[in-house]
Amino acid sequence: MKNILVIVGSGHKNGNTDQLADAFIRGATEAGHKVTKVFLGNKVINGCLGCNACHFGKPCVQKDDMIELYPLFMQCDAIVLASPLYFWTISARLKAFLERLYAVAQEDEHPAQGRYEKYPAKDCALLMTAADDLFWTFEQAVSYYRFNVVNYLGWNNKGVLLAGGCGGSHSKRKIQETGHLASAYQFGKTIYPV
Ligand SMILES: Cc1cc2nc3c(=O)[nH]c(=O)nc-3n(C[C@H](O)[C@H](O)[C@H](O)COP(=O)(O)O)c2cc1C
Repeated sequence: MKNILVIVGSGHKNGNTDQLADAFIRGATEAGHKVTKVFLGNKVINGCLGCNACHFGKPCVQKDDMIELYPLFMQCDAIVLASPLYFWTISARLKAFLERLYAVAQEDEHPAQGRYEKYPAKDCALLMTAADDLFWTFEQAVSYYRFNVVNYLGWNNKGVLLAGGCGGSHSKRKIQETGHLASAYQFGKTIYPV
């Protein structure tokens, strides 16, 4: 049994991304995992100020909803990032959450090239929805995930589910008309094969 934290970086309750995350959660829960879902749409999480107080032994100076998320993050085995595609990348909400993890960085005496600190070891996965479904639709978002989440934060990638063709920006949301919810359910069920 793993402790999985699902962060939904959408503002729409029951929107495409929230539904995709819920399908994943159904599968993961049925597989016996403990899953905690955080919907960022009703949270206030500001971007990192870069003040570096946290790197001088102090807690983050910002007293927003991130305070309640730090313990959830520290305790989880896996973190699943769910986001709508906004202007070719993850949503600002989710980016702000990731920036604020700077406050839990640990000193690394021998960092690899291009790294300056280390982060708690986690498994991770990415779930994304978008209106388009072209071969380049998710390129920037996946690149960011690989560079920052997997390579920089150093987390172990358990998989990426890219749900294109969900409508939404100029048409109605229609993830239920796609096969993506079934894929997300299967992903949740099999993220830790027995
Ligand atoms: C500000 C904004 C930017 C968006 N940018 C893109 C984009 O670059 N490519 C795309 O295919 N869809 C884009 N969309 C559409 C959403 O990614 C899509 O509708 C998504 O499934 C919405 O998820 P939600 O229901 O969780 O809000 C954008 C929507 C908004 C509101």
